[in-house]
Amino acid sequence: MTARTLVICKPDAVERGLAGEILSRLERRGLRLVAAELRLIDRETAGRHYAEHQGKPFYGDLVDFITRSPSLVLVVEGVEDTWKVVRALMGPTNPLDAPPGTIRGDFALELTENLVHGSDSAESATREIEVFFPDLS
Ligand code: RTP
Ligand code: MG
Repeated sequence: MTARTLVICKPDAVERGLAGEILSRLERRGLRLVAAELRLIDRETAGRHYAEHQGKPFYGDLVDFITRSPSLVLVVEGVEDTWKVVRALMGPTNPLDAPPGTIRGDFALELTENLVHGSDSAESATREIEVFFPDLS
């Protein structure tokens, strides 16, 4: 059984020229690229994607950030729990907690500008892929 998950190389990753590095790490691990789009995420799409965070104190900053400049939005496929593989490669949400060897631990220092998004469950993966790539499912 293989499963797909959504990955976003966030605006800071594209601005800093790290989108290729992030994609390369996913590919070298053995995940297969299924979809990729360089896309300026609009506020409506950001709101659907981050619906679980609406109303939280950091929500406004999060939407301002993710809509600031284009993101590289990806779907990758691999093992049954692909989302877990991606989350492990990313490291913890706060880059200051992220160990070296993870994407956030190697390249990020700020909680908002933490380079990458990965779905946090199989259910989130299905929902988020539908938000960004409705023709894929
Ligand atoms: P993401 O959804 O972006 O992949 O990140 P995540 O699962 O690791 O973290 P999540 O809890 O979903 O939070 C989404 C993004 O919101 C920002 N955040 N700020 N100020 C705060 O307490 C706070 N908590 C979260 C982070 O930028 C996080 O990536
Ligand atoms: Mg999340």
